[in-house]
Amino acid sequence: MSFDLAARLAARRAEHLYRQRPLLESPQGPQVVVDGQPLLAFCNNDYLGLANHPQVIEAWRAGASRWGVGGGASHLVIGHATPHHELEEALADLTGRPRALLFTTGYMANLGAVTALVGQGDTVLEDRLNHASLLDAGLLSGARFNRYLHNDASSLAKRLEKATGNTLVVTDGVFSMDGNLADLPALAREARAKGAWLMVDDAHGFGPLGANGGGIVEHFGLSQEDVPVLVGTLGKAFGTAGAFVAGGERTGSFIHPAPPAVQDKS
Ligand SMILES: Cc1ncc(COP(=O)(O)O)c(C=O)c1O
Repeated sequence: MSFDLAARLAARRAEHLYRQRPLLESPQGPQVVVDGQPLLAFCNNDYLGLANHPQVIEAWRAGASRWGVGGGASHLVIGHATPHHELEEALADLTGRPRALLFTTGYMANLGAVTALVGQGDTVLEDRLNHASLLDAGLLSGARFNRYLHNDASSLAKRLEKATGNTLVVTDGVFSMDGNLADLPALAREARAKGAWLMVDDAHGFGPLGANGGGIVEHFGLSQEDVPVLVGTLGKAFGTAGAFVAGGERTGSFIHPAPPAVQDKS
């Protein structure tokens, strides 16, 4: 037996599955330079043009001068700094939720939320076309894992009948590869009828959707009871990087304890 990467790479190339990274040689924006070629960009997620916005750049400059640039420690030690906390409070206000928790990436937000909320003896039900990070999170949680047909509330309802333990229903808000919207009112109705929680990853909805850019939950006018766990990423319409999980006071405390100074808004 040998670990023959050369043969595996050759096989991948032969199947036209070998992927290469195009080299971006300009800032993100509608007009970019990729591999030396000026192009119009239809494939980035910088939906509001903030990734290279002068005010965002200035805020980063001012932040770096005031706070430095290193994390220094984990949030549970002494890495949870005032600007992190202020951003969590601003994101809680934006989403109309009592708490929001910051994560370094959307991948980590999904892994953190799902694995904190469900485990052995519980059930996690996911849309077949969910983002890979949600599927990985469901598998890693140790809960009974099942996928329902894409955006199909009746397929979800059938699986909810067989669910055991705490049950988390998980869906993208705007599906990342197809761009269609989850039928959240129907999914929320099914979940609530069975006492399950609905978690929505609205990475692509925050910014473009909703009268105030509040994403798919604002678009459909849904409440926190409809969508108890709401995930957003900051690397798309928000123009920077990172992610957050927004929810109730207890949900926030369960996923991550609040620092002592936080106001109890429950
Ligand atoms: C729906 C969805 N969730 C999560 C992520 C992961 O976000 P991040 O790149 O911040 O890890 C993405 C990124 O493409 C996404 O499209």
